[in-house]
Amino acid sequence: MAEKKEPRKITTHVLQEMKQAGEKIAMLTAYDFSMARAIDDAGIDVILVGDSASNVMAGHETTLPITLDHMIYHAQSVIRAVKRALVVVDLPFGTYQGNSKEALNSSIKIMKESGAHAVKLEGGKEVEDSVKRILSAGIPVMGHLGLTPQSIYKFGTYTVRAKEEAEAKKLLEDAEILQEAGCFSLVLEKIPAALAGEVTKRVSIPTIGIGAGNLVDGQVLVIHDMLGLTNEFHPRFLRRYANMYTEMKDAVTSYISDVKSKDFPNEKEQY
Ligand code: KIV
Repeated sequence: MAEKKEPRKITTHVLQEMKQAGEKIAMLTAYDFSMARAIDDAGIDVILVGDSASNVMAGHETTLPITLDHMIYHAQSVIRAVKRALVVVDLPFGTYQGNSKEALNSSIKIMKESGAHAVKLEGGKEVEDSVKRILSAGIPVMGHLGLTPQSIYKFGTYTVRAKEEAEAKKLLEDAEILQEAGCFSLVLEKIPAALAGEVTKRVSIPTIGIGAGNLVDGQVLVIHDMLGLTNEFHPRFLRRYANMYTEMKDAVTSYISDVKSKDFPNEKEQY
């Protein structure tokens, strides 16, 4: 009988090889065991336990309220399900901006208590020291530039970032700073496709875009958005692969109707 081959585990080195080989990286968010099991089984390369859990799991308007302990709870659930993907966990708002020691302590707590493989933080030059300090403990760091939702009250809106020359120039500089500091990859959120392509050419680490066009090394979407579980969110960059809000609602409507009409359970569905 043929031996079942273990899947190739994705590491930061594998992602680097994928960039060099021109193989695109597929990344999705997940926050719980069942969703993580399904997307890992489907062959996703990277799972992000994003602080978007604050929006799609907890119903907050922004990513600001989620805590380190909440993130660790989600990460633990995801890690239990995953056999192949690289699991990256967002450092939530207020757990790394104070200073690099705080950033290191938060990262160590995530890694120790969840078993995740890497952390992600938002920002450029202002987090340079933190990236270096986290890396000094052997923890891989993913950067995040462009629209950084933890700074929503500074931006004021969720519109496309870095359309003006000065902001685009700063973003390019920040990308190089993060690469020099040691980030293994960069998320580029909601910036013009040409600028994302320019960053991707300038840095040797993989870039992962969300609303950043096709000239990047990979793509990321929030799983609830791409499955159509959230039905009030329609940005131009979002492609929906299912309409699960409607499917779930229809299934629940049928269940209610079957219970009320005494059709469920039937003879075969009881002991
Ligand atoms: O929290 C998140 O889901 C993210 C992605 C949008 C990249 O940071």
